Amino acid sequence: MTDIRDDARAAFRDLFDREPDGLWSGPGRVNLIGEHTDYNDGFVLPFAIDRRTVAAVAVRDDRILRVASGFADELVELDLANLAPEALRGWSAYPLGVAWALGESELGERGADLGAVPGVDIFLDSDVPVGAGLSSSAAIECAVAVALNDVWQLGLNRKALARAGQLAENTAVGAPTGIMDQTASLFGEEGAAVFLDCRSLESRPVRLGLADAGLSLIVIDTATAHNLADGGYRDRRASCELAARTLGIPSLRDLDLDGLPHAKEVLDEVTFRRARHVVTENRRVLDTVRLLSQEGPGAIGDILTASHRSLRDDFEVSTPELDLAVETALGCGALGARMTGGGFGGAAIALLPETEDSLLRVAIDGAFAEHGYSQPDIFRVNASVGARRDT
Ligand code: GLA
Repeated sequence: MTDIRDDARAAFRDLFDREPDGLWSGPGRVNLIGEHTDYNDGFVLPFAIDRRTVAAVAVRDDRILRVASGFADELVELDLANLAPEALRGWSAYPLGVAWALGESELGERGADLGAVPGVDIFLDSDVPVGAGLSSSAAIECAVAVALNDVWQLGLNRKALARAGQLAENTAVGAPTGIMDQTASLFGEEGAAVFLDCRSLESRPVRLGLADAGLSLIVIDTATAHNLADGGYRDRRASCELAARTLGIPSLRDLDLDGLPHAKEVLDEVTFRRARHVVTENRRVLDTVRLLSQEGPGAIGDILTASHRSLRDDFEVSTPELDLAVETALGCGALGARMTGGGFGGAAIALLPETEDSLLRVAIDGAFAEHGYSQPDIFRVNASVGARRDT
């Protein structure tokens, strides 16, 4: 963490030839449970992780936005007057998309008047792995959102900043994602997950209690492709919307377990399985929240694994690599394991006794080698604080 902050500050100085006004940072996230439920108005339980994107930012005395980063060898420059989502390309669509979204009237009367704010120079650096399903994109969006909210003195609250991040992703980047990632990145707390009702947008922290239980959460990044602007995610979302339309309900949030037999009669087989995943996953999130507070994290393993099986069999967004990571983790002492994030590649998580950590690494490395898959990146994550000014 200290390293990226120092790096971002030094790179800002080198590139822009002055000191930044400040540093802001936004974390990536792991979704503990509640997958593909956010855009169905359902429940999610992600947490912010101790991997962050840092934004070094300084105000300019003209109307130019300039953005550069440690992950792309490019300086992108744009006049605020030309800031439109169609004009944004590649990685810079994330930070500049947020700048644009902050001016959208949808954020309410407190949306920024982009005609009245100064230009800024931004340098971004990050230790959130890209493409792992750990929301490196939300980390950028939220670091930039809190930074611009401060330097442009917008006074927007965190819900509005989360929506700005989502708007950037949906409109500038073109990925039709829900609001989970940005909410986790903005509302994260040390040692706690964020329980979010995606319909009311009410959220509250839920203590994880991992250290007290002698447990840790390990990420297994399979280093396989994961791109939410691609078709798979969009298709799944369309299936869920079709299911809700056919059933005559506003969204799949309005279907419960008792409604599944009727849904099975009216939906085609595939659409039914997509809907069944969402309905059972919402139930699993509520059960996880209850078990965490009543019995602690040692009690949630089976639910995590059930979530994986549902994503694999009903929602069909897992991959052979993710399945192998999950089954191998379960075979060597994990209490539960599941893919995390949108799927089609990316990362799995395993909940296991701290003492089994090295055993898991060896087992996963061995299993992946045996299958001829490239070696995954395996690391522990801790629930961490949300996006904030970082001096
Ligand atoms: C991605 C999206 C989220 C959510 C998950 C699946 O992370 O950005 O909005 O839909 O996939 O749970």
